[in-house]
Amino acid sequence: MKKLWGGRFTGENKDWIDTFGASISFDYQLAKQDILGSLAHVKMLGACGIITKDEMQQIQTGLKSLQEKLANNELTFTTQNEDIHLNIESLLTEEIGPVAGKLHTARSRNDQVATDMHLYLKETVTNVIEKIHQLRRVLVDKAEENIETIMPGYTHMQHAQPISFGHHLMAYYQMLTRDQERMQESVSRIDVSPLGAAALAGTTFPIDRQMTADELGFSDIYDNSLDAVSDRDFILEFLSNASLLMMHLSRFCEEMILWCSYEFQFVELADTFSTGSSIMPQKKNPDMAELIRGKTGRVYGNLFQLLTVMKSLPLAYNKDFQEDKEGMFDTSETIIASLEIMSGMIETMKVNQATMQQATEKDLSNATELADYLANKGLPFRQAHEIVGKLVLECIQQGTYLQDIPLEKYQQISPSIEADVYDKLNSHSAVKNRHSLGGTGFDQVKSQIEKAKAELS
Ligand code: ARG
Repeated sequence: MKKLWGGRFTGENKDWIDTFGASISFDYQLAKQDILGSLAHVKMLGACGIITKDEMQQIQTGLKSLQEKLANNELTFTTQNEDIHLNIESLLTEEIGPVAGKLHTARSRNDQVATDMHLYLKETVTNVIEKIHQLRRVLVDKAEENIETIMPGYTHMQHAQPISFGHHLMAYYQMLTRDQERMQESVSRIDVSPLGAAALAGTTFPIDRQMTADELGFSDIYDNSLDAVSDRDFILEFLSNASLLMMHLSRFCEEMILWCSYEFQFVELADTFSTGSSIMPQKKNPDMAELIRGKTGRVYGNLFQLLTVMKSLPLAYNKDFQEDKEGMFDTSETIIASLEIMSGMIETMKVNQATMQQATEKDLSNATELADYLANKGLPFRQAHEIVGKLVLECIQQGTYLQDIPLEKYQQISPSIEADVYDKLNSHSAVKNRHSLGGTGFDQVKSQIEKAKAELS
């Protein structure tokens, strides 16, 4: 088959060379954007008198017909045409004949593909932002139901101090808020039009780049034609933001997996988000959480793949750039699906409040409370820490807890200890009393939730 760029060639490519060079097996996903880009370009060519009004209209009619066929799944692409741009152009030729060849005036596939990617990512990021927003809403609702649900707070995976489960959930809310902000901030660098940079140097035709940018809804235009066709920062930024997002989801998934283990039983995931075992009838596995945790790997991989592709590439376009697409498509799909599943999983998860609370009753995570109590009575905190440390050791040796120590014994240590110490040692009041700004005290969690609700609305 004669190539659209075949003029200077005498020999033919072998099929397997065509296959290796082709991107149509994945860049067909840019078909919608490619046609939109062409519609904007041809309108500008007509308006600037670069082609006649009649030619413009013929091309527009052809492109609109392709648009419709695409929506009805009626377009077939072939590797003979290498990529989505050449496929669309050749389909357009089938529609309207040789006048289709005027479409590519003052344009190159280099600015065309960059335009498609910008359009694609702009839409994707808007979608991602919406999904993050939805997950944040789910988190706030769950947190509100669990302001007074007491759970062990961990450091080093060891019981540290009791906390509110609502507070724990709100920590993830905060991470996701930053993820959403990052995605939002990246829009200004995605929302830029490379169209009109042509191959690398601009063009001698009197084009109007502002017009095509406006047609496509871009808020800005690349100032430098070389930069316009060789910039892939906006994709890398997306992959990097997606990696951070997946890291957050993965940490949360890890906790959920742990919490629904037999040893914890803090939560139960809905059947919809769990699977069984083909051999062990009792199993209920948190597959979806594990899979999100696992898919984090491919998103990081996509970031590193493209960083590595881009490293050392000279200006301007290089065919290496064709490798920028699959990771972007895969990442978009992965994060959108992960966010949707995450929202459903958290929304439907059953919280075993009693089990969580019990885990804070038979432990020594109230030791800080006792040290704080002594410090409040005037003891230097270091000294209080030492005294409580010794008591903790005794408890461990005797298999008892700080709240089991009789008042007489406490008073031998310090006559200032009174019966109210037992109330302080209770995990519910330990949480409640942490009134410091941003702490786990119920009042603090409540105001955090109020602030979040205001942010969300
Ligand atoms: N399929 C190519 C890509 O994705 C389109 C641009 C091709 N440009 C070129 N001069 N070969 O990068």
